[in-house]
This record gives sequence, C-alpha cells and structure tokens, in this order.
Amino acid sequence: MKFFIDTANLDQIKEAQALGILDGVTTNPSLMAKEGITGAENILQHYRDICEAVDGDVSAEVIATDYEGMIKQGEELAALNPQIVVKLPMIAAGVKACKYFSDKGIKTNVTLVFSAGQALLAAKAGATYVSPFLGRLDDISTDGLNLISEIRTIYDNYAFETQILAASVRHTMHVIDCAKLGSDVMTGPLSSITGLLRHPLTDSGLAQFLADYAKGN
Ligand code: E4P
Repeated sequence: MKFFIDTANLDQIKEAQALGILDGVTTNPSLMAKEGITGAENILQHYRDICEAVDGDVSAEVIATDYEGMIKQGEELAALNPQIVVKLPMIAAGVKACKYFSDKGIKTNVTLVFSAGQALLAAKAGATYVSPFLGRLDDISTDGLNLISEIRTIYDNYAFETQILAASVRHTMHVIDCAKLGSDVMTGPLSSITGLLRHPLTDSGLAQFLADYAKGN
C-alpha cells in the first residue's frame, strides 16, 4: 500500500519523507490556499519545490472546468516535473481530459469521486489513480469505506489498472481499514501516518529495556 501525504505544507512533507515511508503527495487548491500559496506562478513554483522534496508522485490539480482549459493547464503542470500527476475533477470534461492524458502517457488522478459509478468512468478513461473521498462521505453519515470496497470489487472484476487512492483520510483507523480492503494508496494528513507509530506497550517496553540495560552498565 502506498502512503501519500495530503498537504501543501513543505515542512510536513519533508518530515514524512524523512521517515522513509512516503510514496507521494496530494494537494488541492484548498490545501494550497491554507499555506498561503496564491497566484499561478507561486503555485507552479510550490509544485516544483514539493517535487524536489520527495521521490514519488505529486498530484497537481487543474482549476479549469472546461476541456480545453484542463488540457492547457494539465500540460503545463505535467511539464514541471515527471513526478507530476495531473489531478482532474470528476465531471464530463475531466473524464474526457483524463482519456486525453492517459493516451499521451501522462499520469492522472481523478478527484472528487463519491460513487462507484464515477470510479468506473475514471477507470474506463484510463486514470492512473481514482480518489474516492471517504472522510467527506463519513461526514454526511454515508459509509466511505463501503465505497472503497465497492470500487475494489469492480476494478478486480475487470482487472482495471487504475489504482484506488483512498482520499479524505482523516485518522489512523481509516488507514488500517483501507489497507484491509485492499486500497492501493491512501492519502491523509501527517497525523494519520505518524499516529500509526503509537502504542503504549511499545513505549513502556522500550523504557523497561533501557532501564534493564542500564543496570548492567
Ligand atoms: C484528495 O486528494 C484531497 O486533497 C483530500 O484528501 C481531501 O480531504 P479532506 O476531505 O480532508 O479535505
């Protein structure tokens, strides 16, 4: 299972990268704005900086909602670095643009996916990744994990190569449940990754080992 970090915060990206288990980064316009990154040039430069900080795939989202605009922006983003994955919204123009980029061998991430039918369309369009937003479904009393499970079944039935990128992951249990369901990738905040480290028995066990070692030295 790949681990992506869902942030535009460079310090957090570097911290996750330093752990040695990071496979990539996802961003979106809201995450960019949260870091105070505004204006087309600054945003492009920030993507370059993120690519420099990590080894894996970096999802960069188009803002255009029309097909021609998505192609123009997507090509500009893809030209920044081979690590860039063009992130496209799940609307008709996004599906069409996804097909265009996949035919050209440019990686894509179809985002804002909330149903199995949308995920099926993304796979048909040759998406590299599909991003079902499980946390946002949970927020409205709908089982986000069930969507991951449905997509897994559909993709396995037809051997679609599109990778399920569980997005809108909020906490460690989402990560574990997605792993159990066979999600290919998860993207979440740094806390959803570092939280996996924690166990009181690890802490007390290590304290005991160190104390016992100190007795003999
Ligand atoms: C995915 O690519 C999105 O950036 C993200 O996971 C959305 O998460 P949120 O629902 O916590 O905003």
